Amino acid sequence: MSNTQDTSARPTPKIEPADGKLGILIPGMGAVATTFIAGVEAIKQNLAKPIGSVTQLATIRLGKRTDNNTPKIKDFVPLAPLENLVFGGWDIFEENCYEAAVNAAVLDRPLLDKLKDPLSALKPMPAVFDSEYVKRIHGPNLKPKGSKMEHAEMLMDDIRQFKARTGASRLAMIWCGSTEVFHRAAAVHQSVETFEKGLAASDPEISPSQIYAYAALKSGVSYTNGAPHLTVDAPALMQMARDRSVPIAGKDYKTGQTFMKTLLAPGFKSRMLGVSGWFSTNILGNRDGEVLDDPGSFRSKEETKLSALEQILQPDLYPDLYKDIYHKVRINYYPPRGDNKEGWDNIDIFGWLGYPMQIKVDFLCRDSILAAPLALDLVLFMDLAQRAGMRGVQEWLSFYFKGPMTAPGLYPEHDIFIQLMKMKNTLRWMKGEQLITHLGLEYYD
Ligand SMILES: NC(=O)c1ccc[n+]([C@@H]2O[C@H](COP(=O)([O-])OP(=O)(O)OC[C@H]3O[C@@H](n4cnc5c(N)ncnc54)[C@H](O)[C@@H]3O)[C@@H](O)[C@H]2O)c1
Repeated sequence: MSNTQDTSARPTPKIEPADGKLGILIPGMGAVATTFIAGVEAIKQNLAKPIGSVTQLATIRLGKRTDNNTPKIKDFVPLAPLENLVFGGWDIFEENCYEAAVNAAVLDRPLLDKLKDPLSALKPMPAVFDSEYVKRIHGPNLKPKGSKMEHAEMLMDDIRQFKARTGASRLAMIWCGSTEVFHRAAAVHQSVETFEKGLAASDPEISPSQIYAYAALKSGVSYTNGAPHLTVDAPALMQMARDRSVPIAGKDYKTGQTFMKTLLAPGFKSRMLGVSGWFSTNILGNRDGEVLDDPGSFRSKEETKLSALEQILQPDLYPDLYKDIYHKVRINYYPPRGDNKEGWDNIDIFGWLGYPMQIKVDFLCRDSILAAPLALDLVLFMDLAQRAGMRGVQEWLSFYFKGPMTAPGLYPEHDIFIQLMKMKNTLRWMKGEQLITHLGLEYYD
């Protein structure tokens, strides 16, 4: 008997090699994007290590425990090497990537100064922006007036020119822009046809991020949504991704507080400990915090932040433990903190015979330091997925998101340990390796 499982459910894909440059296109060149780009440049120059990046540091066990075969993931699947990444992006502000990184004040000035040449060379292209979707910020670097379809065409032109300019052989787009106001999928999002008509008529339900996503998919470029708003989580764009064999993924990087939640909640459930309340509050003072101070943008964030606990704890299956949980999430804009967020959780749990206990978590985190390696991993894995012919929603990348996208009708998996197992088993499947179930009985035969 083996503790591995047959992988025959779907044939092993053929993976095209990662030859040539991979162009990373980023709408929104603020704190996360500049920390990501500067980090890659620093690592390329041997000034720092890729801490926090699974693609760069993590290993993957293959075969039996006794085989002692645990290569690094980057040596197991063909990922684009960091030296082959080239960056481009859009922002409503004209600052180049060096200036934007200095303003974001995440990374120290001496480090940024060492990277000044490559970062200064990166100037954001004029953005497609709509102040109905992102309030509180206004910038001059905008595309000329036009319909939403005309804006999509301008973006496709940017994509073509970027590819020609950089000589990239493949592209991946990842949203690092501000969180847009909460919207549900509307009639215009129901099919590719209605969506295209909506673009031509500048339908107010189509957000700027959806115009970027449409331009990407139409250009055969994968799209990853690092923010909590809808974008590709709508039937028209999902259909387009499938039709054009392009991967999509989202939503909202799982960093500070939700990362902690998805570490702790599976632990409580694994021991059948009850939770009666979970109060989460955040203070942060960066531009993201300023945008999230707007109730519409906060509503988008609240949706992804609230959904994780419910899905992990499964109150329907465990009513004695989780039926009456009181879950509250707050975000407060507090400028003195800059990007150094404080995420504070009070968790009321109960144990044997219902006796109550409390846990306090105070995570003094650095938001963009946590998000940057996720952005790196995501673009590398999305490029891998595309070369492996995997199209549509990439649920195996749920590990990275607060609100993982799934196929319609499926509930998302939020438990980070299940997500990690799913991700690693997907990589094993891609390479025709046996999946690992951790049964392990054969060691005792
Ligand atoms: N930092 C984290 O840990 C974290 C975690 C999860 C999600 N996120 C999300 O990632 C996104 C980026 O976060 P950040 O801290 O870098 O924010 P930021 O405010 O520093 O950067 C966002 C940038 O996007 C630009 N922008 C807004 N709308 C745009 C548009 N239509 N086109 C082009 N540019 C546009 C803004 O001008 C700004 O420079 C936010 O949506 C945030 O909620 C961040």
